[in-house]
Amino acid sequence: MATSATSTSSIGVQDLRCEYQDNPLGIDVRQPRLSWKLVSPAGRGTVQTAYQLRVNDEKGELWDSGKVPSGQSVHVPYAGPELRSAQRYTWQVRIWDGAHQASTWSEPAWWEMGLLHSSDWQAKWIEADWDDDPQAFKPAPYLRTAFTLDKPVASARLYVTAHGLYELSLNGQRVGDAYFTPGFTSYEHRLQYQTYDVSELLRSNENALGVILGDGWYRGSISIGGLRNFYGERLSLLLQLHVRYSDGSEQVIISDEHWRATTGPILKSDLQDGEIYDARLEMPGWDQAGFDDSRWQGVRVAEYGLANLVATVGPLVRRKERFVPLAILTTPAGETVVDMGQNLSGVVQLRVSGPAGTTIRLQHGEALDKAGNFTMEHLGLEPIIPAPLQEVLYTLKGEGEEVYTPHFTTHGFRYVKVEGFPGTPTPANFTGIALYSDMPEIGSFSCSDPRLNQLQHNILWSQKGNFLEIPTDCPTRERAGWTGDAQIFVGTGSFLMQTAGFFTKWLKDLAAEQGANGRVPNMIPSPASKLTVNNFSTEFLEGAAGWGDAAVIIPWTLYQMYGDRRILQEQYESMKAWVEYERQNAQDKYKPAGHTAPRYREREPHAHERYLWDTNFHWGEWLEPNDPVPALLFGEHTPEVQQILSAPHVATAYFANSTRLLAEAARVLGKEADAQEYSRLHEQIKQAYISEFVDKDGSITPEKQAAYVRALAFDLLPAELRPAAAAHLVKLIRSAGTHLGTGFLSTPFLCSVLGANGYLDVAYELLMQESRPSWLYAVEKGATTIWESWDGIDEEGNPHGSLNHYSYGAVGSWLYQVVAGIEPTQPGYKHASFQPQPGAGLTAASASYQSLYGEVASSWQLADGHFRLTVTVPANTSATVTILSTIGKEVTEQGQALEAVEGITGVRRTEDATLIDVGSGTYTFDVVTADPTAGTEK
Ligand code: BGC
Repeated sequence: MATSATSTSSIGVQDLRCEYQDNPLGIDVRQPRLSWKLVSPAGRGTVQTAYQLRVNDEKGELWDSGKVPSGQSVHVPYAGPELRSAQRYTWQVRIWDGAHQASTWSEPAWWEMGLLHSSDWQAKWIEADWDDDPQAFKPAPYLRTAFTLDKPVASARLYVTAHGLYELSLNGQRVGDAYFTPGFTSYEHRLQYQTYDVSELLRSNENALGVILGDGWYRGSISIGGLRNFYGERLSLLLQLHVRYSDGSEQVIISDEHWRATTGPILKSDLQDGEIYDARLEMPGWDQAGFDDSRWQGVRVAEYGLANLVATVGPLVRRKERFVPLAILTTPAGETVVDMGQNLSGVVQLRVSGPAGTTIRLQHGEALDKAGNFTMEHLGLEPIIPAPLQEVLYTLKGEGEEVYTPHFTTHGFRYVKVEGFPGTPTPANFTGIALYSDMPEIGSFSCSDPRLNQLQHNILWSQKGNFLEIPTDCPTRERAGWTGDAQIFVGTGSFLMQTAGFFTKWLKDLAAEQGANGRVPNMIPSPASKLTVNNFSTEFLEGAAGWGDAAVIIPWTLYQMYGDRRILQEQYESMKAWVEYERQNAQDKYKPAGHTAPRYREREPHAHERYLWDTNFHWGEWLEPNDPVPALLFGEHTPEVQQILSAPHVATAYFANSTRLLAEAARVLGKEADAQEYSRLHEQIKQAYISEFVDKDGSITPEKQAAYVRALAFDLLPAELRPAAAAHLVKLIRSAGTHLGTGFLSTPFLCSVLGANGYLDVAYELLMQESRPSWLYAVEKGATTIWESWDGIDEEGNPHGSLNHYSYGAVGSWLYQVVAGIEPTQPGYKHASFQPQPGAGLTAASASYQSLYGEVASSWQLADGHFRLTVTVPANTSATVTILSTIGKEVTEQGQALEAVEGITGVRRTEDATLIDVGSGTYTFDVVTADPTAGTEK
């Protein structure tokens, strides 16, 4: 039925997204999910009661969902006819509002499919026709071809991938703005190709394509100790250009035996070691038509197959922030050092004039030593891991101002030591460019304490420094996709940035590399099969608790943050396999032959021990202050050492936690039998944990902060023992002079566990603690990112370990959820909770988050005996605002009694709090504070 003007809803439908993206080009998701936002001029209580989608292909209407009575406005799967390779689909949506009035149709949006079948590829894998020494660093191959187009072009798409990295140009212009393409995946299983719209770059008649290949992750240094040639020894290219003429006919240009190859100015390119570039060897016009390539060499066709090709899933890496140096220092040792003012991952762009043949050397480091000299020593883990080279050499061609940005390398750095510079360098000669996966920044936090704002800055910058294609531990030493670090940080990181695509991609690699027995490698993509350290195969380290659990924790967290049920669906088998691996290990190694731990020697095992994961290697809590484990790792594994390394209290707790999350995931996916099975198993593990580690007085073995935090966070205690356990934890914190004693795994939960068990004040004291170990110690020492260890820069000013390691930054979640008070109570923030919990003298805090529905925001100020809270709830969602009685009980909204306010759907008052249910809109609450002096300067 036609809708007349008067019955049209005033709600607008905007920000159409397909698979989280704005008009994605070249996807291979067969049922892409569509999301949209409702924008209501009226403001409050906006809901959707139905929607209609229509999708067109070039022939006309392909699918009409009809009117679907549903409130779902995010992740609605396309359910029309099968989608075809290289086709563009245009879509629109309209909705019906709470009064059942239809909106107008949205503006159209589109998505375009990539090449869905191997048979769509006509291109051949090609590589330069020369042999080189696999052990040596080699010049980057340059490849080119020329072709003629004899009719007017309507549109063109280019599909391309490589072994190694590629930089592509068409008629002398760079194609796309992404770096380090085709990205880093588990190449044997999944190699991404990219799709580009190059319609505008083509010309009539003569055209040319040019490609430079870099070593990248494929054959360059990766992981611990700079392992090389992990995926192969030769760089190759696969490229296919589809040209569609205005008359409807098509021409396809492919990589084949007719291409030409040579080497040029890039003499060495390695992601970690750096790049050597001699500008005198540049070949002007090499990627344009008419260039004489007769002296170039030929190419070989190689048979690498197409079976592992997949479309690009996550965001690609782009050049992001640019930094003008803060200063150019002359150190006591006489070095010239550029200070970018920010620790970042990326490159330096040089702008320089000077005589031909002058070579400038740049070394990239994170810190100065205590004397103020440049150092990179702390970036290694001697004797196990040497410090990375992170060096760029540029030789001038001597033709006026030269601008050079490295091609295939990236470094973790704040300081750059410069040698060989012609003349006196000025800040204008150097620009720092941050490089990371291009994820929208969706979350923010600030408060009245500048030190916490700096902490928040540091958290975000450690994410930017480490979310480069994969979640790395650090951008310097290892640059590896350590699973533990990723699971620790995923909650915080997914609030700050839209990580769904980034992790969807990485989780596919995780599943692809999982062993048949469910074992998850420590690093994804995993170099483990070839990794030896001090002649040890690292095999025995694989499948560690708290690391492998990333398989379960990350999908579950993404589901909570983005309401993405498909991630759960697609990862479910991987999640389950990991839990089964844990179960097998707990059972199989139940009284293992030859196990020398005292309790196995002395008696028959107890029944509960089959649920204890008390064998294998584990990193344990990892990097607690004064943790002996790193030192024990590569020494002799005596029974005593083995017992420490098997960390049964950590492993059993993770086994329990992952089992519980798996049961919940099963429930969400409607897998009832599994849900019951894993709930039962969880209960058994929990009981085993209690029998083994928990005493009747609520004390836990080992008597460490981390053990208490973990048991409380994972709900591993009988309810009646929680208060006693929390009291033990506080006692440990107090006896450490109100300092934290946790490492990687439980630091994220420390403040939340304290707050949730009646010790909000202690949580705030730890947050505000300035002496080591603490978060603000690093801030006081001038950190601009999160450090790997609590001692990143010691009291004397000496750096230790990596200074850009995000794990301890996981306290961010607590800032957003508790200090500012925003939390998703239904996946994807369909329902949110606002429950700020002020403390430590803060007088204001705010956070905001761009959910798929729109902005969720909370902002509070304490002043003159009033607590004022403004919350924003996006259309088509609802929220509960909780004002704790400790803040105050007299609550109004813009001067009105709560019951009278439009948009408030319910008010409940308990002893502890006033709970206010609201629909969408912005609300400003005023609370007369219980403490009349609250917010006044004391
Ligand atoms: C890395 C990590 C990682 C750890 C394993 C370190 O060398 O930098 O952050 O998780 O090893 O415990």
